[in-house]
Parts: sequence; structure tokens; C-alpha cells
Amino acid sequence: MEILDGKKISNQIKDEIAVEVAQIKERGEKVPHLAAVLVGNDGASLTYVGSKVRSCRKIGFDSTLVHLPEETTEEELLAQVEALNANKDIDGYIVQLPLPKHIDEQKVLMAVHPDKDVDGFHPTNFGKMALDMQSFIPATPFGIMELLRRYNVETEGKHTVVIGRSHIVGRPISILMSQKGKAANSTVTLTHSRTKDIKELTLQADIIVSALGVPNFLKADMVKDNVVVIDVGITRVPDDTRERGYYITGDVDFENVGKKASFITPVPGGVGPMTIAMLLKNTLLARERHRMNK
Ligand code: GUN
Repeated sequence: MEILDGKKISNQIKDEIAVEVAQIKERGEKVPHLAAVLVGNDGASLTYVGSKVRSCRKIGFDSTLVHLPEETTEEELLAQVEALNANKDIDGYIVQLPLPKHIDEQKVLMAVHPDKDVDGFHPTNFGKMALDMQSFIPATPFGIMELLRRYNVETEGKHTVVIGRSHIVGRPISILMSQKGKAANSTVTLTHSRTKDIKELTLQADIIVSALGVPNFLKADMVKDNVVVIDVGITRVPDDTRERGYYITGDVDFENVGKKASFITPVPGGVGPMTIAMLLKNTLLARERHRMNK
């Protein structure tokens, strides 16, 4: 069994980006600038956004955090989005999800200019991704593809079973892995809460991408030998014995599934760090595309 080490690969990618940033600086050009909008004080979102901003600083990007109170109205948030669209200094930005319930998430994501939508959540980018045109690919599926590519995991002609049909992970990764190209050319089955017998399907899988958010969902008796397992689950389990009061776990019974797997991602240290690296990559791409279109 080989660990797909997302921490190591994400550091490699960040180092590569940092080299490019250093060259940009040497040429006296403006460095990439990522902004993040966070509404409210959801614990997990604060952690993710904090981590994104810290990573920007480390590799030499400019970063801006727009932290708005929980009571922010939809109109106020939309005004903020318009301001970011108009701000020429900012190459790309994200609106951290989930948003408070009184705000229409779809309306906000639709308002993000597609050229600055480094999360790849705008329908224009999602549509272009599905048509294999130049776009911004959502960071988590982009990170999974890059991890598979860098470990030379064979995907061509393989049966990939995706668990979960979210717009952020399950749906886009099912599209990407069925397309032509490296880490793709796979035969994909997309499963979800209404799938009749998931185990029957996972037992046929050469590759499993689990993006469900249910700890210990994927067990050893659900997979065949030499399976490749990508665990996208990030669940906080309350635990008073830890200083933070919780621990992070994925969807996979890592210990037992790991014994049968050829490759497996750990949680933490697998897909999570890749997501941040690919968001930075998208921001670098956004800067390049803006310069080319000027
Ligand atoms: N919430 C959970 N994952 C993500 C993500 O990739 N981007 C944003 N903006 N919010 C998220």
C-alpha cells in the first residue's frame, strides 16, 4: 500500500508557485492577489479561510480577508461581491461556503465574475469544465486529479466509483475523470443517497472517490484488493481528550481498507492540503489570463 501524500505534493506545488512569484517580483510586476469573503463565524470555515490566507502569505501572494458579520444581508454581500469584481488589484476571490441561511447561495455565486471565480463554482466555469474548455476547475477535484497525476496512478479504462453528488466535489470529479487526458479516461459511476446498493458497486471499483462526510462509511468488506481510495471526507468528531475538543476523520476505515488498497489518501494530510494548493494555482492562472486579455 502506498500513501498518496497530499501534504508532500501540496508543498511541492506551493514551492513551484513560490518560484513563479519570485520571478514575477523580479520582473517588477504585480504579484497574484487572492481575496476570501467569510460571512459569520462557523468554526470550520474560519479554519479553512485562515489556512488559505496563511498559504498566500507564505508563497508571496497578496491576500485580503473580507470578514463580514453573521447578520450581513444578501444585498450587502452582493455589494461586496460587486466591489471585488470591480477591484482591479484582485485577481481572484472566493466566497466561503456555507453562507448563513438567510442568504441565497446560488444568487451570490452567480454574481461572482467568472474571470475571478477561482473556486470554479460559477455556471460559466462549471459548463466550460464539463465541455473541456479553459476554465477554473474547483479546487478539490482539481487537487484529486493532480494527486493522481503526480503519483502516476493508472486511471485509463479503470472503473471509478464516486460516492456523493455535491456540486463542489462528487459531480465535478465524475465529469473530470470521464474526460480524455492524464488521470482520466476512466469509466465513472456516480453514486449518492438514492443509490440502491452502493456496496455492490464499490466492490467492482478500481478507484473509489468518497465525498460523503460520514465517518467510517467505506469499510474493508466494501472494496476489492488493490483498490485506489481517495477520501474527501472531513468530519469533526467531538473529543474532550483533545485540546481542540475534536478530531478530524474521513469517510474511510483507513486502517482496514488500507490493508487492501494499492494507494490511499490519509485524513488529514490527503485531499485537504491539495485543495489549498490548487486554489493558489487557480489564482496564479487568473493573473496570467487577466494579463493576456489586457
Ligand atoms: N466550503 C467547503 N469547501 C469549499 C470550497 O472549496 N470553497 C469555498 N468557497 N467554500 C467551501
